[in-house]
Amino acid sequence: MTQHRKHRSPKSSWQPVHQWYNDLVGEKGHYYHQHVILPRVVELLKMKDGDALLDLACGQGVLSRSLPTDVEYVGVDAARSLIEAAQKQVENPKHHFVVGDLMKPALSTTKSDFTHASIILALQNIKDPKRVFQHAAEHLRKGGKFVIVLNHPAFRIPRQSSWGVDETKKTQYRRIDRYMTPMEIPIQAHPGQQQRSTVTWSYHFPLSTYFAELARVGFVVTGFEEWSSDKTSQGKAAKMENRSRSEIPMFAAIVAEKR
Ligand SMILES: C[S@@+](CC[C@H](N)C(=O)[O-])C[C@H]1O[C@@H](n2cnc3c(N)ncnc32)[C@H](O)[C@@H]1O
Repeated sequence: MTQHRKHRSPKSSWQPVHQWYNDLVGEKGHYYHQHVILPRVVELLKMKDGDALLDLACGQGVLSRSLPTDVEYVGVDAARSLIEAAQKQVENPKHHFVVGDLMKPALSTTKSDFTHASIILALQNIKDPKRVFQHAAEHLRKGGKFVIVLNHPAFRIPRQSSWGVDETKKTQYRRIDRYMTPMEIPIQAHPGQQQRSTVTWSYHFPLSTYFAELARVGFVVTGFEEWSSDKTSQGKAAKMENRSRSEIPMFAAIVAEKR
């Protein structure tokens, strides 16, 4: 009797919210993709003709659509429907998308000489960052560049960070309740639906964990940037909101080189 092993998606996959996420991101990206992340990631990657990028947890492939046309691209994600959405939009024959679980020991691509790797807005959704870094290390050539962008782990910890207002100082501050302890945190994708809302998972680690794990698998960190929102408030709280928004960054970007 032939046994068929069912492909099991990890619980962190965004398959259950694929439709919502694909609509939100669209062809060019959501607000922060367009205004903050994609232009700066393209600048950090500095890809040139003939380079090749492995994009881990690529979602529906938004980064691929911002790259120079003459680079090779492989995107991997656990959510089959997001990969299908990416494949529907692809026009460049050098771009490929595959379903893959980054928690598994091996990816389906065997190419081991990528010049670049990336993981954009997804490391905070993945259970074991070391596994992700191992994949990047295994598939990059020596000297290859790895660009990571994630929700800033020091300031955006679901359920453990929030805004507050100090009325005497007339300032808006960021309150951090927990930071050093790794945490697995469920997030309701549609909070209005409360109990019926689909859940995605967030995994918190302090920055020191990411830096230590990168070093352990053979990366040297060559850059670190912190990016704030470019939005502006109107109205009577505008001054304090604008100040706290520019002082407290939303995203962290780590650039590492494979030794
Ligand atoms: C916030 S989305 C970001 C997607 C894309 N990089 C972007 O910027 O639009 C997080 C992605 O991580 C993927 N993901 C979560 N766990 C994964 C795993 N174990 N293996 C592969 N992908 C995973 C999800 O399916 C989802 O597409």
